[in-house]
Amino acid sequence: MPRSLDELAAAAGAPPVSPGIAPTLVAPPTPNDPIAPQLAASPSADPTPNPNPYPTPTPTPNSTPNPIASPNRYPTPTPNPTPIANAAPSDDAFHTLGSEVRIPFSMDRFTDAAPPVGGIGAFAGPVTDPRFVTALDDVAHAGFVDRVPVIEQPSVRETTSPAFDPHVVRKDFPILEERVHGKRLVWLDNAATTQKPRSVIDRLTYYYEHENSNVHRGAHALAARATDAYESARETTRKFLNAPSAGEIIFVRGATEGLNLIAKTWGKRHLEAGDEIVLTHLEHHANIVPWQQLCAETGARLRVAPVDDRGDVILEEYERVMCSRTKLVAFTQVSNALGTITPAREMIAIAHRWGATVVLDGAQAVSHMPVDVQALDCDFYVFSGHKVFAPTGIGVVFGKRALLEAMPPWQGGGNMIQDVTFERTVYQEPPWRFEAGTGNIADAAGLGTALDYVMRIGMPTIDRYEHELLGYATERLAEVPGLRMIGTSPNKAGVLSFVLAGQRTEDVGAALDKEGIAVRSGHHCAQPILRRFGLEATVRASLAFYNVREDIDALVEALKRLR
Ligand SMILES: Cc1ncc(COP(=O)(O)O)c(C=O)c1O
Repeated sequence: MPRSLDELAAAAGAPPVSPGIAPTLVAPPTPNDPIAPQLAASPSADPTPNPNPYPTPTPTPNSTPNPIASPNRYPTPTPNPTPIANAAPSDDAFHTLGSEVRIPFSMDRFTDAAPPVGGIGAFAGPVTDPRFVTALDDVAHAGFVDRVPVIEQPSVRETTSPAFDPHVVRKDFPILEERVHGKRLVWLDNAATTQKPRSVIDRLTYYYEHENSNVHRGAHALAARATDAYESARETTRKFLNAPSAGEIIFVRGATEGLNLIAKTWGKRHLEAGDEIVLTHLEHHANIVPWQQLCAETGARLRVAPVDDRGDVILEEYERVMCSRTKLVAFTQVSNALGTITPAREMIAIAHRWGATVVLDGAQAVSHMPVDVQALDCDFYVFSGHKVFAPTGIGVVFGKRALLEAMPPWQGGGNMIQDVTFERTVYQEPPWRFEAGTGNIADAAGLGTALDYVMRIGMPTIDRYEHELLGYATERLAEVPGLRMIGTSPNKAGVLSFVLAGQRTEDVGAALDKEGIAVRSGHHCAQPILRRFGLEATVRASLAFYNVREDIDALVEALKRLR
C-alpha cells in the first residue's frame, strides 16, 4: 500500500506532489456541512494551492510611545493580500485539480511500517495531475482519503490588520450577545477562561455529527476521520508554537496536567536529593505544587527568584539563586495575578548556562502574544486550550524531542503501547507514549480550530491591539479614587489587578456582577505573589482581543459608583 502522496502519484503514473505543503482544511462542502457554506459561496475561489495560509508579518521598530510597554513590538504591517482559503470545487467529484487533500494519518494501519514522525503533514498536498485525481478518488472510495470540514474564517484577518476592528470580531462570539442581570455582558474574566468563537462551537458539533469515533484503531471511515481530526489539530498546534515537529506536541487536559506530567516523568527520572528547582515568586499554584510534591519524593529543594515592587522578576536575584545543583527552572511567561511578562528568552538562556532544563508555563501567554518555542529555546512549554478560545479539557505539552524520547510514560493503558505481553510492554514513541487511553478527540479538534482562528487574525495583531487597550484601561482606572493597581510592570499583558480602599474584593466583584461585568476577585491561585504585596485577594479584570473600550468604560464607571 502506498504511504505518501508521492507514492500514490507514482502508483497512478503521475509526477510527484510538491513537497512541504502544509495541510489545509479545505474540502468540497457537503449539503449538511454546517461549516462549509461560507467557503462554498465564495465567488473568489482560487484554484491555486496556497502553500502558507498564515504568513507571519516581520516586526520592525516603531517609535510611538506607549503607556504600558515601552517598545511597540508590532507596528502596523504593510497590507499583504494573501488568499485565505483555496477553492472549494463545486462539482460532484471527490477531488479536483488544485484542491488540497490530506491522507488520513490512520492510513498507516494499512502499511507494515511505523507511522511517520510528525504525523499528518507527511500526507498533505495539492492535487496536481488529472491522473492523480483518479488515483485519489480510488483510495477515497476505499475509505482511505477523507474530506475535512472547511473552517469558518474569523471576521478580521491579519491581511487587514491595520483595520482590525474588535467590534466586528465580537460578532464571532455568540456569548458576547448574552445579557446578565438585564445588562450587556462585559466579559473581563479572560485570565480564568476565554469565550469561544462560533467556528469552535461548530467544530465540536461537526465532529459529533460526522466524525465521532475512537482514533488510531478500527479499520473504518469514521476512525480515519476522527484520527485525521485529532492529528490535524496536533499539526496546527505545532504550527502555532512553531515547534519543530508534531511529534513534540502531547495532548493533555490542560496546563495543570501538563506540569504534573513533566514533574512525574522527567522530574522523577532526573532529580535526586540535593538537586534544586528554581521558580519565581509569580507562579500559579499549578506551577508550584507539582514541584513541591517532586521535592518531597526526591529530596530536592525549591528556590524562589523574587520580584520587585512592580512585579518584575529581579534578574540579578534570579541569577543568584542558580547554582550547579539547579536541575530545573519552571516559570510563567505571563503572570495570571499581575500580568507581568517575564523576560523568558533571557531567563531561559541564563538557566541553560547553568545546565538546567526549563519549563515555561504559557497558560496566560498564548492568547495574548506570538509564541515561538524554538526562538525561546525552552525545553518544555505548557498551555491550556480554554485560555486561548478553545474548549476546556484539552491542553498541550511541548517537549524537545530528545527529552521526550528519554522520558518514561506516566500513565499506562491503551494507545500508548506498541506491544503488550504479561511479561513486558513495549511503549509507543512520543507523543503517543504520554497519551494513555482515549484522548479528548473532539476538544482537540476544537483546539485546532481555535488556534487556526487566532492565527488567521494574527497573534501580532492581537498583541498590538491588546497592548493599546491595556494602556487605555490603565489610564482610566487611575481615575477611580482609592484604587491601587497591583502589578505595574512596564511590560504587561492583559491583566489589571487592583484593590479599592475600604472595599472588600468580593463585594466589588459582586457589585460589578450586578452590572453585567464579570471580573475575578480572590487569590487567583497565586497566593505567594499576592502575599508578596501584603494581600490575600485582588479584583482582577483581564482582557482578550474582543474587549473594547466600552468594556473598560463600563468597568470604570461602575467602580466610581461604588465609592
Ligand atoms: C499561569 C497559569 N498557569 C497554570 C494555570 C492552570 O491552568 P488550568 O487550570 O487550565 O490547568 C493557570 C490557570 O489559570 C495559569 O493562569
